[in-house]
Amino acid sequence: MKFEKNILGIGAGYVGGPSMAIIAYKCPTYKVTVVDINPQRIAAWNSDDLPVYEPGLDAVIAATRGKNLFFSADIEAGIRENDIIFVNVNTPIKMFGAGAGMATDLQYWEKTARQILQYSRSSKIVIEKGTFPVKTALAMERILSNNKTVHFDVLSNPEFLSEGTALKDLENPDRVLIGFRETESGIKARDTLVEIYANWVPRERIITSNIWSSELSKLVSNAFLAQRISSINAISAFCEKTDADITEVARIVGMDSRLGNKFLNASVGFGGSCFKKDILSLVYLCRHYNLNEVADYWEGVIKINQYQQERFILNMLNAMFNTITGKKICLFGFAFKANTGDTRESPAIFVARRLLEEQAEIVISDPKALKNARNDLQLEGIAGKVSYIEDPYEAAQGCHAIAVLTEWDIYRDLDFQKIYGTMTKPTFIFDGRNILDHEKLFKIGFNVYPIGKPALVHF
Ligand code: UDX
Ligand code: ADP
Repeated sequence: MKFEKNILGIGAGYVGGPSMAIIAYKCPTYKVTVVDINPQRIAAWNSDDLPVYEPGLDAVIAATRGKNLFFSADIEAGIRENDIIFVNVNTPIKMFGAGAGMATDLQYWEKTARQILQYSRSSKIVIEKGTFPVKTALAMERILSNNKTVHFDVLSNPEFLSEGTALKDLENPDRVLIGFRETESGIKARDTLVEIYANWVPRERIITSNIWSSELSKLVSNAFLAQRISSINAISAFCEKTDADITEVARIVGMDSRLGNKFLNASVGFGGSCFKKDILSLVYLCRHYNLNEVADYWEGVIKINQYQQERFILNMLNAMFNTITGKKICLFGFAFKANTGDTRESPAIFVARRLLEEQAEIVISDPKALKNARNDLQLEGIAGKVSYIEDPYEAAQGCHAIAVLTEWDIYRDLDFQKIYGTMTKPTFIFDGRNILDHEKLFKIGFNVYPIGKPALVHF
């Protein structure tokens, strides 16, 4: 069968996998190929055990794989055979050298740029899909301009999907953003990308902008979202000192239509691969341009997030008579949010490390993230008494305390009377997501510590 367009996605991770799959799903007349340097990842995408857990992803893959969606480890052939290339490789925080712990590590991205340069035999549209520091597209253009016979147009098309709702976000996005160069071929490239999205996204939601605004808007969107969480978390600390209730405050504030009611859930802190990395990248860029006050302002968002996690630990210690040495603590959830197995930058990693430093014993429970939890603890060299038990009833047995770290629905509906019966007394529950019925837990016998509201204690 001859396809109307041949599209390549480089990088088959949390962003690349689902976003390329949706293009294939929505555009049956296009052929979409996804490549990755990690052959195991490709093998997993070709198996029944997909490397990424996302609600609804299995069905989309089942409907497209082998028809117009193909996963391959052959990057060279992929680049040769496709004229539209989405770059979905990871851009983590740089952990070494200049900008260590702050700047974005562009080594994977640059390797991809060089591979595109090396293997291309015809003109290509190259689309930045991940989050990149502002002006990355310029560097991409400079690398690609070393081939004098092949023409490349670089577009910025940042992805706004959120894990756990990725399929919904991709099928029904608030907006699709395309940054382009105002040149004849830049405009043509832009129109090609608009045409792809117009297969399922209403035209008025596809917005185009200059390429630098597009790159910056992605950083700023994430910075604003994270800022909102740090704002509500900062106020949660205030509530705990004053007997105000953060849920009530958030509801009242959120009813102002200028502010809106989303992203106002106080928590143990935000995690995920994007927020911290993107703010640090923004801060790094601000310092680079000597905008130190602006950098300090955004750095505050990260500081409050660290403070919130540390506060959670100190509250636990304080509540449990200032010692948790030898006590068994059960973590309900390890993923950075519900409906994903992803644990990158999860507050649970910090909590686990700190509890083990205090010589507690921990039991980690999570419906999807236990494999990643094990890897995280190993990679971070976090040692101590740790066990991994998926079933929450079994996990809590014999524990002194439960800490809810991920807002999985299953935790809302547990039989806490039964759980209480199997735990060591006095029994504590620290609800780092405010998802449980605190009054009910208190009546059962738990000492209950929510975020940003008065604790309910029996002594
Ligand atoms: C985020 C952005 O939402 C998305 O647009 C972007 O493309 C990638 O980064 P993601 O990291 O998948 O998406 O998850 P998100 O839903 O934004 O949650 C991030 C963190 O904030 C999670 O740890 C979540 O639990 C926490 N959070 C979110 C809160 O603590 N309170 C809230 O009210 C909302
Ligand atoms: P994200 O959340 O941004 O999608 P992931 O780490 O989940 O990040 O996915 C990025 C993917 O990109 C990984 O599977 C990684 O192996 C892949 N990758 C990194 N560099 C290259 C490269 N040069 N060529 C192909 N794939 C790459």
